[in-house]
Amino acid sequence: MEQFIAGLPKVELHLHIEGSLEPELMFELAQRNGVKIPFCNPEEVRSAYNFSNLQSFLDIYYQGAQVLITARDFYDLTWAYMLRCKVDNVLHAELFFDPQTHTDRGISFDTVMEGLTQALVQAEQRLGITSELILCFLRHLDEASAFETLQQAKPWKHAIVAVGLDSAEIGHPPEKFARVFAAAAEQGYLSVAHAGEEGPASNIVDALDILKVSRIDHGVRCVDDPQLLARLIEQQIHLTVCPLSNTKLKVFSSMEQHNIIELLRQGISVGVNSDDPAYFGGYMNDNFAAVACAFQVNRLELATFTANAIDASFCSMARKDELHQQLQTYVDSQ
Ligand code: ADE
Ligand code: ZN
Repeated sequence: MEQFIAGLPKVELHLHIEGSLEPELMFELAQRNGVKIPFCNPEEVRSAYNFSNLQSFLDIYYQGAQVLITARDFYDLTWAYMLRCKVDNVLHAELFFDPQTHTDRGISFDTVMEGLTQALVQAEQRLGITSELILCFLRHLDEASAFETLQQAKPWKHAIVAVGLDSAEIGHPPEKFARVFAAAAEQGYLSVAHAGEEGPASNIVDALDILKVSRIDHGVRCVDDPQLLARLIEQQIHLTVCPLSNTKLKVFSSMEQHNIIELLRQGISVGVNSDDPAYFGGYMNDNFAAVACAFQVNRLELATFTANAIDASFCSMARKDELHQQLQTYVDSQ
């Protein structure tokens, strides 16, 4: 199965680019920029990655992002992730970025975008990997800050396909950002939101009804609401599920307790994603392997994760057709 997973074409729809910052690059950038970090070496950083919940991770994740200062830093970060996509046979990726994590430290929105877009253009040219960018608002910050961020994005509208919502879910429900998401939709952005990761199933309902999102990030708490489950199936609303993230952040006590296969077999459109791979111990292949190891899954089910992600992606119809074709060719060859 490991070999099948390695060769399987993949599409990643849930990846925070700041969450792909490996400790080695963190050290390199800290040194390059003269930023002090409270660790002596990359191994020490890794050993600090023991999380009890989402917030315990976020504290360390925002701290790590402080080494990102220049456009070159954002380029290096993004290029490293795209190279990793090549290794894992990820053909298309939709990347979240958290502008407020940087603008709050005095780094300009333009600096972030220059670095990200340079790496993504290069990845398409040199690696043949297509991508989209999703601007995430930090839900622990206020509405005014989100509006300011939306304003800063104006000159970059052409490079950003959608807005998203991430960070601490509990205490920051979707309705807090109703007006920002309405304004973003008016400007032509698509939208997604983290919901039902640590928070209740009602956050998924509200993300759909109030924020009008196209897909849900995580969404695993949907099982608590049978009516919502029926709706997700009927409307084929996609959930970008992140297995290793969910076990590292104790959303599930073990991979065997995860509900991704149960959701798949009920007819919900679910996909496999890495979320913050540098912090959770695995990229796409590792996430697929962890699921395959914990459950009796067949090849068709693994391929269905990719097919679902292709259908739910924000790329062009022509690109979707190409991706489906590549997936079919691979499955037929096995
Ligand atoms: N930011 C980065 N990873 C996240 C996650 N899993 N949930 C919420 N916010 C995040
Ligand atoms: Zn996430």
